This record gives sequence, C-alpha cells and structure tokens, in this order.
Amino acid sequence: MTNSNKYLETLEELLNDLNQTNNYHDLAIVDSNLKFYNFEKLLNTDVLYIDISESTKNLASVEKVWNSLFEHNLNRFSNLLIIGGGVLLDVCAFAASTFKRGISFSTVPTTLLAMVDAAYGGKNGFNNDYGKNQIGTFTQPKSIFVCHKLLDSLTEKDYKDGLIELIKHGLIGSSEIYKELSLSSDYKVSFDTIKKGIKIKLDIVSEDFTELNKRKLLNFGHTVGHLIEKDSEFEVSHGEAVAIGIYYELLLSKKHMGLPQEVVTSYLQYLEKIDYNYTYKFSKGKNSIMEALKNDKKSLVDNVDIVLLSDISMPNIINLNFDELFEVIDY
Ligand SMILES: NC(=O)c1ccc[n+]([C@@H]2O[C@H](COP(=O)([O-])OP(=O)(O)OC[C@H]3O[C@@H](n4cnc5c(N)ncnc54)[C@H](O)[C@@H]3O)[C@@H](O)[C@H]2O)c1
Repeated sequence: MTNSNKYLETLEELLNDLNQTNNYHDLAIVDSNLKFYNFEKLLNTDVLYIDISESTKNLASVEKVWNSLFEHNLNRFSNLLIIGGGVLLDVCAFAASTFKRGISFSTVPTTLLAMVDAAYGGKNGFNNDYGKNQIGTFTQPKSIFVCHKLLDSLTEKDYKDGLIELIKHGLIGSSEIYKELSLSSDYKVSFDTIKKGIKIKLDIVSEDFTELNKRKLLNFGHTVGHLIEKDSEFEVSHGEAVAIGIYYELLLSKKHMGLPQEVVTSYLQYLEKIDYNYTYKFSKGKNSIMEALKNDKKSLVDNVDIVLLSDISMPNIINLNFDELFEVIDY
C-alpha cells in the first residue's frame, strides 16, 4: 500500500514537501507540458521532461523511460518522482515497477483526472494493438502528493475530463458528490470534493486491490468508454469517451436494473452543462468492436462483467452477453 498521501493547497507547500530529505528522489520525470513551472530550478533533484500522450502511451515510450533511468544511473535502491497527468503516471509507474525488477517511486498527479483516479490504486500500464492498458502491473507508489494549485494551469477541456471520473465516483459511491457536481453552477470543484472523490477510490481499492470483485465497480462507464477510445484511435479523449460510456451504461442500467429515468435525465443535463457529447457513432464496424470487447480484461468468450446501477450509489456487477451491449451502442 502507499506509504503516504499528502494534500497540499499551494505550490510552496508542495515544493517544501518534495525537497525534504526524507522525500529524496534520484530523478524527477515531468510532463513536458509543465516546463513552464521550471521544476529544474525548484527541485533539489535532476529533472527530465518527457513528452507522452495517449497516442504514444505504448511500449516505445516505456523503452524511452527505461533508457532514461539507465542513463541517469538509477539502481535497484533509487527513488523516482513522477510529475504529470494520467498518461505519464501510467507509463512511468510501469517503467519504474519493472526497472531492475522494480524501484520505489512517488507521484505528483497534475490533472484532475489523475488526482481523483489514475494516481490511486496502483494500476499502471500502456496500450497496444489489442486495446487500452493491456500490459501493466499493480504497484503502489511510495507517496502521492496532490497539490490543488496545479489545476490552475489545466485547460478547461482537460479539467472537464477529470470531472467525468469524479461524477463516476459519485454515481457508484456517493450521492453527495453527484449532487454537488450536478447542482453546481460553476464547472470547477472544490479541493474538498476532490478529496471526497479520492476517498471513494481509496475505500474501494483497499477492499480489493487486485480487482477480483469490488474494484470492478470503478470501471463503470469504462467498458464502452475504452471501446470508443480505441475506435476513434484516441482522437476522443479518455474523459470524453467515459462520459459517453457512462450514458450508454446508464441506459443498460435502466433496462436491466430498473434505474430510474430521472438519473439518466440528470446525467444528460450535467453533460449538457459542461458541453460534452453523450453519443458516439462507431466507425470500424461490429467485428472490430467485438475484437476489442474480447480483449477487455473483464470479458470471457462472448460476455463481459459490466457495472450497472439500480440507483445512484447502488452499483452491481452484472454479466452481459456482448449482444445485449450492442443493443445500446451506435455502430
Ligand atoms: N491507472 C489508473 O488507475 C487510471 C485510472 C484512470 C485513468 N487512467 C489513465 O489516465 C489517462 C488519462 O489521464 P489524463 O486525463 O490526466 O490525461 P493526460 O495525462 O494526457 O493529461 C491531459 C493533458 O494535460 C496536460 N497537463 C497535465 N497536467 C497539467 C497541468 N497541471 N497544467 C497544464 N497542462 C497539464 C498533459 O500534458 C496533457 O496534454 C488515460 O490513459 C487513462 O487510461 C489510469
């Protein structure tokens, strides 16, 4: 399990913590879009900027990170610091957890999505021809530093992508978070709501770290969401794809679990408020979707374990035949 989880309001507090001797790191790998923070001048460690996006979240990028670890002479006892969004965290955490059979690493999630989801729970990995995050490990970071101030530089679009994972946490585990988001007039959320979202994830992961059962709940919206990301060749972002995936999985919830229509309606109103799409037309045909579905880590031959809601905060893991899923998507 993670040794420490820190919440920091300002950049000064973050840097103060990161520069303490008990948090010593041999190298910090930072998202190249964060160069303007000048971490190389602010941290008492070597800083390397790396450019990885969803379309390059692949083995070639992992190799690039492994090579950098060798070039900086990291050994089995080294500590790595990773500062970035969900993509950089997933790739670098995978590289660290396999380098010389695994070295210690800590993270600073810098997007809302990474703060409320990707940074927690120890999953890492990368995409390949067979789909999203097909190769990876479960390895917990030593520490996670969540700094609210870092969100100020996020684009509105990247911020909203994070809201989708937060509303997902609300739908599966907290009517309070769901209400806060759906009733708020501003799309921005408070640090308190972010902390509540993180708690939902931590509570679920603490009960089922290796996703044998309860952790599957966190995949709400992701069964369809991942199909959309892959079909669009990652033109549709993770947040946008999950937003649509949640809508389709709410429709399935209504049909199979009797979810009240009001929940579907209020979710659609939320997407409208943040100006997000709720439908997607698959472009590559049924066979291609079927292949991608078979590679879903929750699938068997022709069925998949999917999360459906009977109400807000009442999730169930249901086994659906692929054909039942095809009834709601547009292909
Ligand atoms: N491991 C997990 O449990 C888990 C959970 C959920 C999602 N994920 C993964 O997370 C990824 C999506 O993460 P994401 O939405 O953070 O995308 P991302 O990492 O691509 O970041 C989005 C954009 O924001 C930029 N950015 C990052 N921090 C910034 C900041 N503070 N200011 C300005 N720009 C900044 C990035 O450079 C990038 O251009 C997906 O690959 C998804 O599979 C993993």
